[in-house]
Amino acid sequence: IWTMAGFRDMEIARIREQVGSGHVICGLSGGVDSSVAAVLIHEAIGDQLTCIFVDPGILRAGEAEEVVKTFRGRFNIKLVHRDASDLFLSALEGVTDPEIKRKTIGRLFVEVFEEQAAKLGGADFLAQGTLYPDVIESVSFTGGPSVTIKSHHNVGGLPDRMKMQLVEPLRELFKDEVRELGRELGIPEAIVGRHPFPGPGLAIRIPGAVDRDKLALLRRVDTIFLEEIRGAGLYDAIWQAFAVLLPVRTVGVMGDGRTYDYACALRAVTSTDGMTADVFPFDIGFLNRVASRIVNEVQGVNRVTYDITSKPPGTIEWE
Ligand code: XMP
Repeated sequence: IWTMAGFRDMEIARIREQVGSGHVICGLSGGVDSSVAAVLIHEAIGDQLTCIFVDPGILRAGEAEEVVKTFRGRFNIKLVHRDASDLFLSALEGVTDPEIKRKTIGRLFVEVFEEQAAKLGGADFLAQGTLYPDVIESVSFTGGPSVTIKSHHNVGGLPDRMKMQLVEPLRELFKDEVRELGRELGIPEAIVGRHPFPGPGLAIRIPGAVDRDKLALLRRVDTIFLEEIRGAGLYDAIWQAFAVLLPVRTVGVMGDGRTYDYACALRAVTSTDGMTADVFPFDIGFLNRVASRIVNEVQGVNRVTYDITSKPPGTIEWE
């Protein structure tokens, strides 16, 4: 009979056999997939694994610090931390087209990763947290045979250029199975249960040009939204929840004064695999509380909207 503990032991044996005495590098993003892949591979081969964490400057508040703390501190995994925010943000300067944003970010991740891998003196194997749906989506993503809705950058690219063999221990699993495996490996619930976060990060949650000021505003709005969701015990009932900073300013009133500040949108959906999604039905009292906290606590944002579009026809992310 198939159990997750059995799968773990089988994969550990398989990784040991594939890797032998070779070296593996793994790109760590802080998301569920790469985290589970890294811990599983570390269980199998210990210090023959080095993780590379590229901080693109478009993560949520506190995320980079948490990745470093968890993987170095708690799991004792060899970790290279490269803060590449200057590089990413200057490349994104003035870029408004969503596909160009995605491609720019994807290209930089590859470049910085390669640069760090070269510094380590290379490796024989490249580990990736590719899941079964990634394998499917990279063949045909959402829209049918020849339509690219959005270019995902987590599959392809690296292996061809780097001439390394791939280690992909999650290739046969769906998201919920990866989470179960993560729990089996003792990974904290805060990571295992985390909502998916796309590689292009907050850059695709700021329609129009991205800059440090807008990122700072969005982080504050997003933090409040997620705090309230966790506080209400709703986090695990939601597939993904996040804020979007809109490239529009609107008129508002605060005290006796007029404001002219940015509007934001909140998005929360239920889904089983990200391929289709429905709006999460918050009650209006919850939304009121979040909206009033955002407008009162985040200077520069004076209007909050809730995105109720399902997927299709909307996508989960705005870009
Ligand atoms: P959409 O927005 O197309 O997204 O409905 C479906 C799911 O995929 C996530 N997403 C990405 N994940 N790299 C990723 O790793 C990407 O480039 C990317 N783009 C979207 C999105 O957050 C949602 O969970």
